[in-house]
Amino acid sequence: MPAVSLPERSEPLFSSSPSAANHALVLFVLGGPGAGKGTQCANLVRDYGFKHLSAGDLLREEQDRPGSEFGDLIRDYIKNGQIVPQEVTIQLLENAMKSSVDKENKRKFLIDGFPRKMDQALKFEEIVCRSSFTLFFDCPEDTMQQRLLKRGETSGRADDNAESIKKRFKTFVDTSMPVVNMFEEQGRVVKIDATKSPEEVYKSVQEKIEARGVKSD
Ligand code: C5P
Ligand code: MG
Repeated sequence: MPAVSLPERSEPLFSSSPSAANHALVLFVLGGPGAGKGTQCANLVRDYGFKHLSAGDLLREEQDRPGSEFGDLIRDYIKNGQIVPQEVTIQLLENAMKSSVDKENKRKFLIDGFPRKMDQALKFEEIVCRSSFTLFFDCPEDTMQQRLLKRGETSGRADDNAESIKKRFKTFVDTSMPVVNMFEEQGRVVKIDATKSPEEVYKSVQEKIEARGVKSD
């Protein structure tokens, strides 16, 4: 276990209530590896003024940061398609959110690839911010695999290879889907058919999030 501990708080750091001074809007973005989360987040940043925080990107940055005490641990988990202990990921997300609010006054967040495990879902909503809803990109494995292998030709990612992909799929089904199912039972999931072209998928994203009250900038 990493030598960090998360703070205990009686209230989350950011409030999901729009009238609060410490307000933040959080949408979780989930879907299997290769479902198109990153692609669609880029569209939403352009049109809705979100700040995009990819948990995977933040972990890769931390892994490569000289002097990071977590570099080796993160590298190992990512290679094996396993979920990095929540203390590390939640701390990175909280720091990035604080910096976005302080430096850019941006309070609308797409938290991409998170929460991937039940403990991080519960902890993040307890101490950082309750999410408005989860955007879930639904896609069959064979389609995701084709996309990832194609991306692997140029991505330089250590986990876009057949062996790591298999492990990532298994982690997604065993560990991440229970989180999606929990939010679904709470009526907090917006499900998108992610098999179509990026343009068609985005159209459906726009319709569904606007129906949930998300406004363009
Ligand atoms: O989302 P992305 O595919 O970039 O994530 C890459 C890897 O980063 C995951 O397979 C996992 O090892 C790690 N990760 C994690 N916890 C998250 C998001 C990503 O451990 N919430
Ligand atoms: Mg991604």
